Amino acid sequence: MGQTSFIHPAQGVLFAEGISLEAIAKEFGTPTYVYSKNTLIQTFESFKKGLLKTDHLICFAVKANSNIAILNLFASLGAGFDIVSGGELERVIYAGGDPQKIVFSGVGKTESEIVAALKANILCFNVESRSELIRIQEVAEKINIRASISIRVNPDVDAKTHPYISTGLKDNKFGVDFNQALSLYLDAKSMSYIDIKGIDCHIGSQIIELNPFIDALDRVLSLVDQLKKNNIHLSHIDIGGGIGICYQDESPPDFEIYIKEILNKIKDLNVKIIFEPGRALVGNAGVLLSKVEYLKQNDIKHFAIIDAAMNDLMRPTLYDAYHAIKLVREHDAKPQLFDVVGPVCESGDFIAKNRSLTLKENDLICIMSAGAYGMSMSSNYNSRGRAAEVMVDQDKLYEIRTREKSSDLFKLEKKLPL
Ligand code: LLP
Repeated sequence: MGQTSFIHPAQGVLFAEGISLEAIAKEFGTPTYVYSKNTLIQTFESFKKGLLKTDHLICFAVKANSNIAILNLFASLGAGFDIVSGGELERVIYAGGDPQKIVFSGVGKTESEIVAALKANILCFNVESRSELIRIQEVAEKINIRASISIRVNPDVDAKTHPYISTGLKDNKFGVDFNQALSLYLDAKSMSYIDIKGIDCHIGSQIIELNPFIDALDRVLSLVDQLKKNNIHLSHIDIGGGIGICYQDESPPDFEIYIKEILNKIKDLNVKIIFEPGRALVGNAGVLLSKVEYLKQNDIKHFAIIDAAMNDLMRPTLYDAYHAIKLVREHDAKPQLFDVVGPVCESGDFIAKNRSLTLKENDLICIMSAGAYGMSMSSNYNSRGRAAEVMVDQDKLYEIRTREKSSDLFKLEKKLPL
């Protein structure tokens, strides 16, 4: 799982699979997200490889990248989906996902989202609080559709990642406190429209060590044991997502080792194992192609002002995240330390800081590892239309989302009757 490998140089220019990024910029303009179909397939298949002999389900975390073409591709490979909203439910169904492979996470499921998920007959709700469990029971009874649930426990394990993307600590709003989980299961057992299916936990994102996963699983398994003693038998264990990728020089655990360690722990349990990977499946299958508009400098700084901004890729400003930047066509300009910034009117609008780069005006640049939480977190701030999205498949190129026009942005707004 190295950095974005479908981007490679040929004849002095970067290519995405068999197509030059220059050709893509010419046809679709910039900024444009570029994904590799074959990287998506290979990554999914390599995740699955260690699971072939095990009853399993890989539920892609839709929030990482919710483009219909990507969801459709994963569905065709047999994936299930981890959703966190009614919107994601509709997307997955529209994209051809099987509702019986959907798990529904999230701390704030509304009544109408619960109704929609029950009617769609999803695999299960990952319940995050006592109040939510009560609401699901009430809604299920009202519309007379039984609800399958698992309880998302908060194992209080430090995932050792950025605090904004750590979810498995007592400090975090996610999951049911470990010490309250057993009593909640006992309550669930007595509820007339609730079917207990499993247990779930998710401790955070961009986790690059194995230990937090193992610690969390150990805690979950101790609870599975207590449940058994109380005559509650589960059909699945969902260990969430969170496995990290290489953005710079991180070495996240290999899928093979990660899966082996987990399977080792549950081998005697006779349960289905569910994973909810997001970033690991798409992060290095996408890049953001952008153009340098202006260079400017003062006595302490060189700025490269590009046509992508924080509204296109929020991660640098929100998490101080690192995304490597590559020049699409090499040249011999002198390397300088650049702040690579966008046109948005915020000092927080940057893609990279103090990065040694050789840049000239009008250069195309490739912002690496942008397939996860890039487009899906984008916004229209400063009335900027969202970027186009394209998918390469060897020497074929498909537009999978058209660049937004200004009229798309205000089409839902209405003038007052003055
Ligand atoms: N399952 C649940 C319940 C989640 O909340 C998440 C991510 C995942 C699975 C997938 O996690 P992954 O495998 O992608 O790490 N916007 C942040 C990441 C937020 C992750 C939120 N939850 C970023 O750009 O780094």
